[in-house]
Amino acid sequence: MALQALHIEHIRNLKAVRLEGLSRVNVFYGENGSGKTSVLESIHLLGMARSFRGSSIKTLITHEEAHCTVFGASSRPGAEGLTPLGVQRTRQGEALIKIGGQVVRTVAELAEHLPLQVITADSFSLLTGPPGARRRFLDWGVFHVEHEFFGQWQRFQRCIKQRNMLLRRGNIDPRELEVWTRDLATFGEAINGFRATYFDALSERFATTIKQLAPSLAGLDLRFRRGWDAEQSYAEALHQGQSADVEQGYTHAGPQRADIRVMTGKHLAAETLSRGQQKLVICALKLAQGQLMSDAGRAECMYLIDDLPAELDENHSRLVCELLASMDAQVFITCVEPQEIRAVWPQHKELAVFHVEHGAVKLALAEE
Ligand SMILES: Nc1ncnc2c1ncn2[C@@H]1O[C@H](COP(=O)(O)OP(=O)(O)OP(=O)(O)O)[C@@H](O)[C@H]1O
Ligand SMILES: [Mg+2]
Repeated sequence: MALQALHIEHIRNLKAVRLEGLSRVNVFYGENGSGKTSVLESIHLLGMARSFRGSSIKTLITHEEAHCTVFGASSRPGAEGLTPLGVQRTRQGEALIKIGGQVVRTVAELAEHLPLQVITADSFSLLTGPPGARRRFLDWGVFHVEHEFFGQWQRFQRCIKQRNMLLRRGNIDPRELEVWTRDLATFGEAINGFRATYFDALSERFATTIKQLAPSLAGLDLRFRRGWDAEQSYAEALHQGQSADVEQGYTHAGPQRADIRVMTGKHLAAETLSRGQQKLVICALKLAQGQLMSDAGRAECMYLIDDLPAELDENHSRLVCELLASMDAQVFITCVEPQEIRAVWPQHKELAVFHVEHGAVKLALAEE
């Protein structure tokens, strides 16, 4: 999966940007506030129908404009021609999504078409934030390698919502609760099964990628917590916790509480590692996921890496670039000075370098 062309309209200070002939590796450089991160946000909008910064679409749309639009043309290896993709969002929050000229209703379809991995300053929350971000990270990987997962996940979400509504309502009919508990146990076990299988593969691959990016961190390991006592089936855990659930009005145990722990021996990586080391762990996790997708024969995922050199010394920037260069994924990188990437990327010929200035984006000459 690779974007060949990208047209952006009314995203932050990018009023009208047209990029043709994108390369496998695209570098956007420019001074603070020039619009580099906004280029990555535009690609994210094309793949996810929303930004990765903040939750409100209004902040993304250029002031005084009614809507923003991103159009892309993507190619797939082995497939002929390009697939046009388009996303338009209005200030009121409406979304129009088109793939191959057809309107599609769900972001899941778009995400399947343009799988994206983002590495930004906000990515640190993957290690230091609450478990929700880690569950979403894990589920992203499962979603892209196991097609049955999404259906089970949706069933689980519906079921737990219903069960929690019943628990909150009070005056509970035990037979009704039993029906929801039984279904929840079935869907919960299914989700957990997919996650556990994927986690084993991820943790094995992570051991390789972290060794490549930071040999001194090779001893790190990942642990999976499924969200209930590992000695019990989910049905057993739900029955054991039922009186607490009834008392407090929600379901305590289950995949909705799963987590991944990154450990340095007995300690949590988030509490021990330096910022640069944390960034390397995040890169190792995200690159491992892309590799697993590629191994599973799925479309290559695309990497949006905001300010790649930030927090990294030159040697570690080089190791990250070498690992990216060894993969087939298309990459969009931002940095302040082009030299920061040119100095560490293994093959200069692969790089398309763009200068971003006051919301305008121009292909830069070789050593500009
Ligand atoms: N809704 C908006 N409408 C118009 N301009 C906006 C809007 N939101 C942000 N901007 C401006 O758009 C510019 C784009 O910022 P962006 O974050 O892309 O810059 P950057 O090149 O990544 O900078 P840095 O190096 O500081 O990260 C900024 O100058 C910002 O003030
Ligand atoms: Mg930026």
